[in-house]
Amino acid sequence: MTESPSLTDLLATAKEAARAAGEIARRGYRQPQNIRQKHGIRDLVTDTDVSAQEAALAIIRAHYPEHAILAEESAGPEPPDGVWRVGEGITWAVDPVDGTTNFTLNLPMFCTSVGAVRDGVPVAGAIYDPLHNELFSGALGLGAWLNEEPLPDIKQRPLSEAVIGVDWSHEAAQRQQVIETVAGLAHLCRTVRSLGSAVLGLTYVAVGRLQVYANFGLKPWDAAAAAPLINELGGEIRRPDGEPWTFGESWLMAGFPTLLDEIGQVMGK
Ligand code: IPD
Ligand code: CA
Ligand code: CA
Repeated sequence: MTESPSLTDLLATAKEAARAAGEIARRGYRQPQNIRQKHGIRDLVTDTDVSAQEAALAIIRAHYPEHAILAEESAGPEPPDGVWRVGEGITWAVDPVDGTTNFTLNLPMFCTSVGAVRDGVPVAGAIYDPLHNELFSGALGLGAWLNEEPLPDIKQRPLSEAVIGVDWSHEAAQRQQVIETVAGLAHLCRTVRSLGSAVLGLTYVAVGRLQVYANFGLKPWDAAAAAPLINELGGEIRRPDGEPWTFGESWLMAGFPTLLDEIGQVMGK
């Protein structure tokens, strides 16, 4: 039975919403910003985050007023166990500006992210980097694209050729896990990057600019749009303990399966 709405339709809406939000971020870049702290010194929000989110949500609601929405700037508090759960049917997960700290520092590395999650599984998503005019998109079973170009499958590479992306989460304990991961892998891989945008980190695994991406404090709107691209292109997302990752969990490691196996052996997982 064909599911409704189709993945083609969900993908079209994700692309439209990501572009609209990204256009607002592009216009706000290097402009004076009203910067506020949300939950402590490391969690920032600007007026651009808020208006970019409004633009994305207006598009989603115009197409699908009945769908649930989980958007960063209007999400409630973190669940006590740290695992975000969504209901059956479609939930849109939206990060209007991923890389807000970069954005406030005029560091040109941020994007917008719009993902469609069906029955708890990310199925379609679009990521827009407005400064580089790169729109990454994909849906399970349909393919993945950079702008209009179809993306090739992720290449198999050994750890010795891998560039590993990590990001610094907000919590001290999660930062310690990043340090331990880097300590275990830095001497074995090609090098390590921290981009400051979890969404771009994951997306770059899909397009081969990074071979692995690890994050221990991820939010659902960081993963929803990029996960279908990674899966569609032959990559995998696991928890750092080697178990399968499910949407809503806050720690993950993404990459080509054999590379994740190799890392698992090195890290003793
Ligand atoms: C953050 C960025 C950052 C990552 C944080 C995220 P935001 O998202 O992706 O790279 O380390 O964990 O919260 O707040 O800029 O959307
Ligand atoms: Ca954000
Ligand atoms: Ca984010």
